[in-house]
This record gives sequence, C-alpha cells and structure tokens, in this order.
Amino acid sequence: MQGVRIVDHPLVQHKLSILRDKETSTRTFRALLREMATLLCYEVTRDLPLEEVEIETPVARMKSRKLAGKKLVFAPILRAGMGLLEGMLELVPSARVAHIGLYREPKTLKAVEYYFKAPSDIAERLVIVIDPMLATGHTAVAAIDRLKETGVKDIRFVCVLAAPEGVDVLRSHHPDVQIWTAAVDERLDAHAYIIPGLGDAGDRIYGTK
Ligand code: URA
Repeated sequence: MQGVRIVDHPLVQHKLSILRDKETSTRTFRALLREMATLLCYEVTRDLPLEEVEIETPVARMKSRKLAGKKLVFAPILRAGMGLLEGMLELVPSARVAHIGLYREPKTLKAVEYYFKAPSDIAERLVIVIDPMLATGHTAVAAIDRLKETGVKDIRFVCVLAAPEGVDVLRSHHPDVQIWTAAVDERLDAHAYIIPGLGDAGDRIYGTK
C-alpha cells in the first residue's frame, strides 16, 4: 500500500494480538498501548536528520551526532490519541504537544472540532499526528486540514490499526502524509468499527464501556 509503513516488528505484532483480545483488561490495554507507542515512535523517527556536534567523552574529544532542527511535535487526537502520547514522550521527552479535540458526528460520521491548542511555532516543526485507530479517515483528515491551516508542512500519521477505507481517504486528501501502523485490517462495519479491529480504543483505554 503506497504511503503506508506496516511496522511488522515481532514485539509490535505480539502486543497487537493482546490489544485485540477482548479479555485484555483496561489496565493491561493501557500499558500495552503505551509500549506500542514507544515502538511505533522508534519507527516513525527512524529517518530524522542528524547534525554533527563536537563532544568530549571522559577520555577524548570526538565528533558525534545529535538530532538536527527544531523539536518535533506530537499531536494526539483526543481522546484515544492520549493513550499513545506518554509512550512517545518516553522516547522523545523534549517533544512539544499539540492537542486536537475532534468528535465524530454520529449521523454523518464527520469530524467536528471542539479543541485545538498547539505550540505557536508549530509551522516550523515536524508534526506527528497520533490516534490508535484510522477508521473512516474523516477525523485524521480534519486534524491534518487544521494543522495545515496553521501552516504546518511536514506531517506524519501514526496509528495502531488502520482500515483500508481510512487509508484511502487520508491518502487521497493528503498524499504528502505517510502513515505508520501495526496493521491494515479487512474493512469497516456499518458503524465504522474496524473489523476485526480491537473495539473502541477510547473505551478500552479508559474503561468507559
Ligand atoms: N474507533 C475505534 O476506537 N475503533 C474502531 O474500530 C473504529 C474507530
């Protein structure tokens, strides 16, 4: 699938199977999602540019490498995206955070914004949008539309599971945005749930069902 990177690392696939299992408790689900976020973060940042710096070890001076440019931004889509945030920040603790509040209008399934708070210089940074599920793609498209309105040019999308329909919608609206996911499932059902999926990610993170 063009523009989609499937993270097929054995640890990711193992954790995904436990996340999918309906018997997995809220506590375990939350912990695993956090671990999954760290592994996905490792992959999505794999090609970040480095610059040479001069450092001094306890025994010698040397040229070494550090991340170049401005700190990146993680942009969780509320509320389920918050389940991935801490795991990502564990790996990149100096990253900035932009919160994007969107809900799906139940009848039309269209995304409606209720909250947006981002660093003032977000336009100059790489923004990694995070949401465990890429289902219809409407929410992801709305979040990315909003980021582009503020001038952001460099955007990546990370999820745990995607539906083919969501991938098509996101890639057709934003072909410049690459997607990192642990799996692309079969399809959406009539209620826009991913099949086989893992159920409602927000409910499983927060135990609200
Ligand atoms: N959002 C979820 O949390 N789960 C789905 O299956 C689809 C959208």
